[in-house]
Amino acid sequence: MEGTIHFLGISGSLRKGSYNTSLLNAAARLLPEGVTMDTISIADIPLYNGDLDLPVVAERPEPVRRLREAMARADGLVLVSPEYNYSIPGTLKNAIDWASRGEDSPMLHKCVAVMGATPGLWGTVRMQLAFHPVFQFLNMQAVLKPEVLVNQAATKFDEAGNLTDEKSIELVRKKLEALKKICQEQKQRA
Ligand SMILES: Cc1cc2nc3c(=O)[nH]c(=O)nc-3n(C[C@H](O)[C@H](O)[C@H](O)COP(=O)(O)O)c2cc1C
Repeated sequence: MEGTIHFLGISGSLRKGSYNTSLLNAAARLLPEGVTMDTISIADIPLYNGDLDLPVVAERPEPVRRLREAMARADGLVLVSPEYNYSIPGTLKNAIDWASRGEDSPMLHKCVAVMGATPGLWGTVRMQLAFHPVFQFLNMQAVLKPEVLVNQAATKFDEAGNLTDEKSIELVRKKLEALKKICQEQKQRA
């Protein structure tokens, strides 16, 4: 019998009315059967400072502890992010840097899927590629295909932030199915 698979979703944008937060909300409505997902905001994560990254977990900044604990509870991460200057936004990279440290990092070996939305033409492809070395360093297992590259976002969401583009909806569905599959395979191996 299949057990439940749990995802944690993170938006790389803090902006109200963010296309990427809307895309994450769409993903939450398109979950495969047998999958649950929580989301967490990275708005309160302080700038990474090695002096605050203490070996005693209870002494780390509270938002960092909450992020790491939420990641630890998840079988897979769903990172939905804008592309800033052809790369990962500093806010999201900073949160990941906090979560990545130590042998107890909840990111090590974790299954992950990245998606992105932009008003521009290229659908955040360079941001998604910029994640590859991060995943390699942390020995993560990434779902590479299908790619969810929501370009010209103004034409793909309605005014309330609902994803309306059928092709994008189908790709999100398939991406989440693929993430579920690798999470299940990882659980079976464990
Ligand atoms: C600092 C900065 C850099 C940006 N660089 C890019 C970029 O490299 N590629 C791109 O497609 N859009 C870029 N944009 C535009 C974003 O895609 C756009 O602001 C988008 O709406 C941000 O996502 P959000 O709606 O989820 O906040 C940039 C925006 C900012 C603020």
